[in-house]
Amino acid sequence: MLGLVFLFLSAYAHTATEWQSRTIYQLLTDRFARNNGDTSPCEDLSNYCGGGFVGLMNNLDYIQNMGFDAIWLSPVIVNTPTCYHGYCAQDFFNINPHFGTEADFINLINALHSRNMWIMADVVANHVGPIGANLEQVDIIIPFNETSMYHPYCPIDWNNQTSVEDCWLGYLPDLNQSVPFVRGKLIYWIQWLVTKYNIDGLRIDTCLEVPKEFWAEFSAASGVYTVCEVYDGSISRNAEYQIVVDGTLNYPMFYLIRDLFQSSYSMYNARTFMSQSSSIYPNLNFEGNFVDNHDNPRFLYNYPKTNRLKNALVWSLTWPGIPIVYYGSEQGFNGGPDPQCREPLWPYLNNTNSDLYKFVTTAIKYRKSNQIWNYDWIERYADNNFYCYSRGKFLMAFSNTDNNLYYQVPYNPYNIGDVVCNVFYTGDCVTVTSSGVPVYLDAGEVKLYQLKSSIVDI
Ligand SMILES: *[C@@H]1O[C@H](CO)[C@@H](O)[C@H](O)[C@H]1NC(C)=O
Ligand SMILES: *[C@@H]1O[C@H](CO)[C@@H](O)[C@H](O)[C@H]1NC(C)=O
Ligand SMILES: *[C@@H]1O[C@H](CO)[C@@H](O)[C@H](O)[C@H]1NC(C)=O
Ligand SMILES: *[C@@H]1O[C@H](CO)[C@@H](O)[C@H](O)[C@H]1NC(C)=O
Repeated sequence: MLGLVFLFLSAYAHTATEWQSRTIYQLLTDRFARNNGDTSPCEDLSNYCGGGFVGLMNNLDYIQNMGFDAIWLSPVIVNTPTCYHGYCAQDFFNINPHFGTEADFINLINALHSRNMWIMADVVANHVGPIGANLEQVDIIIPFNETSMYHPYCPIDWNNQTSVEDCWLGYLPDLNQSVPFVRGKLIYWIQWLVTKYNIDGLRIDTCLEVPKEFWAEFSAASGVYTVCEVYDGSISRNAEYQIVVDGTLNYPMFYLIRDLFQSSYSMYNARTFMSQSSSIYPNLNFEGNFVDNHDNPRFLYNYPKTNRLKNALVWSLTWPGIPIVYYGSEQGFNGGPDPQCREPLWPYLNNTNSDLYKFVTTAIKYRKSNQIWNYDWIERYADNNFYCYSRGKFLMAFSNTDNNLYYQVPYNPYNIGDVVCNVFYTGDCVTVTSSGVPVYLDAGEVKLYQLKSSIVDI
């Protein structure tokens, strides 16, 4: 009953279907902008660097001017000391004072909503912050302050799903969701969080580490779009979780993108990938597609070629699903393993003329003004180093070689004589002939085409 009451009170809750039109910017609350505007470097990336809600609120233009209309914020509740990233809960019911006050958080959300931007909260229900292998400091955790609420310590055996669910991720105490108090409180908590702060959607941490039936209850109780972290490259394993939540962070595609655009694997792999994805995922359109995130070395760290990153970003922004761009991609960040991939953004907040910032802006404008999510994805051409797909009258061409390429792409939705243009360069237009659309990609370029007559300047 309580759950129903909460649901009816929430004015902002948004469903998976509604989220399909959104483009998400992922950021770490501690790393985007300092509350006092200080732009000096951060001395220690493994501790708090000073970012917070006021800094973020003062710099929403930087995000919105690229076209993003949703933000995924790293967890905001009180954490154990030094846990700047937020994945070590201490008090589930209070806002982390390092980021600002609760009023600051509420002001930020109101500012987002007044811009028609949505907030995706990042939540953890698997574990709490480190309090000793024998839970010596369990009394500091609110509200899970008794040892009976946790699984006893054991290291995870990744080949044994029971162990993945019952053992501990490193030194993070593992909550036992079969204990009625724990389960009930977590369900209550997610309803409280979503309704109290008008949260529009949820990114759920460590989904593999908790039994699926718990997530089914948790996700349904939240009343909003839920996207689960299933840290696994297997499509079928991800798909199993899409049955209990709305979508997963598309790790299988994260690996595909790196295979194609860093390792130059044959683009035919994309064909296989799509045929598997579309038959195995319950709904491909609810997956969260990303190139980079806070848990992996950035794309440019592994492969420092901007053209390849551009292909990867456009891929994630145009493939079926909900795109998520990790902050700093628009500035060419190239940080290595965590915490190097969690750079402060503040030195770049005024750098909105950079090539990548403008590139991302153009790609998002193409996605949104044409509402490409409304059109079926259709492969148009595959070769080892070239791939082309369409969505309605919109054609996307990718390359994973440094050589210049030329292909005639047969494309029925256009008529002979139509003029189509690449939105990244004014004047890069070609005329469709009986042989198709003549596509030139120079030195690893990516192009987004649309009918010249349909280009609207917004
Ligand atoms: C746990 O927290 C509850 C609620 O604050 C409190 O009533 C209880 O005494 C605490 N238990 C322990 C063992 O500290
Ligand atoms: C799997 O892990 C569980 C929990 O640690 C353990 O009880 C069980 O014996 C393990 N099964 C196998 C086959 O190792
Ligand atoms: C989890 O809690 C349930 C319910 O109290 C209990 O039956 C079960 O043994 C616990 N699991 C572990 C691995 O401690
Ligand atoms: C951007 O801000 C930095 C200080 O963070 C300053 O050094 C730099 O000159 C500014 N650049 C521009 C183009 O305003």
